[in-house]
Amino acid sequence: MSEHGSGSAVDFDPTDPKHSQFDLVREGARRDGVEIVHYQPRFAVAGTKREKRIERTIAFLLVLSGLSALAFIVVYVAWPYEYEQGYHADKLYTPLLGFTMGVALLALGAAVIVWVKKLMPEEVAVQDRHDNNPNLDERALTAATMMNMVDETGIKRRPLLKGALAIGAAPLGLMAVVPLGALIKDPHGEDQPLWTTGFSEGVRLVRDDGTPIRPGEVSAGGLETVFPGIPHGTGLQYADSPTLLIHLREEDAAEFKPRKGFEDAHYGNYFAFSKICTHAGCPASLYEQQTNRLLCPCHQSQFDVKDSCRPIFGPATRRLPQLPITVDEEGYFVAKSDFKEAVGPAFWERP
Ligand code: FES
Repeated sequence: MSEHGSGSAVDFDPTDPKHSQFDLVREGARRDGVEIVHYQPRFAVAGTKREKRIERTIAFLLVLSGLSALAFIVVYVAWPYEYEQGYHADKLYTPLLGFTMGVALLALGAAVIVWVKKLMPEEVAVQDRHDNNPNLDERALTAATMMNMVDETGIKRRPLLKGALAIGAAPLGLMAVVPLGALIKDPHGEDQPLWTTGFSEGVRLVRDDGTPIRPGEVSAGGLETVFPGIPHGTGLQYADSPTLLIHLREEDAAEFKPRKGFEDAHYGNYFAFSKICTHAGCPASLYEQQTNRLLCPCHQSQFDVKDSCRPIFGPATRRLPQLPITVDEEGYFVAKSDFKEAVGPAFWERP
């Protein structure tokens, strides 16, 4: 038992200035049905070499935690800065996030454990449950108990740990908050990626090997998957751009029902629709020539091509967006503009 304390358990006045903080702590514990049976500071003499060594270990762990949290923020925000086809370092993005966050939290946990086990006083207490409502006295005792816990950490007389804690805690706090920043980007506006694809006015429609297409290269009743003819247009960077160039037979084209505003979106009997299913984003690429239906193999949605790709079966509820097309002076298919609506499945703010 320590030499702390002079208060009697009977008629104890918590407001008496003669009591030490620990007297209040022990009295508070007693009133809560807790008996402190053993209390011993770790170091009888302050400032020993061993104590300093432990402080340095904790400071190292806290700084390591802070630096790892900083590294997490840097990776999260700045690396890889932009997607580049063929640049495989971006595959390390998620593992690096996990590694830096793991080191930050592990180092913090280790610092707390070493601090509690090696620096804070040893204490053994036996506690009973109590259901009394707190009164003013008990609040004073509880406050003293809290202050005592702070004192026991020794933070006030350990400037090294105070500094290390500040260095470690600030980035850790940021590490928790920074990912929220990704949620505040405004999804509206023409340049937002959810509203745009790789197509824009004058961009050629090309096959997956990059070759452009002229009318006549797709047989009547057939279709071809096309991509924007721009750098990386056939790659994953423009994964929302794959489009179906459909050549309707003469009689089917005559029955085509254009949507309002899309009367001039086709070129002759050629029509272009997004290949990305509006249900969950699978490629809707099975074309039933006889019925002029596009089928999505994932959940069997069907779209009526002659009715501007209106969904007629399955879970999809929106049409496949139509890409306005024409041909350029060399006779190759080009887009007249980007899609006029967002392609693919629903997202926030999308009607
Ligand atoms: S993704 Fe096409 S039907 Fe579900």
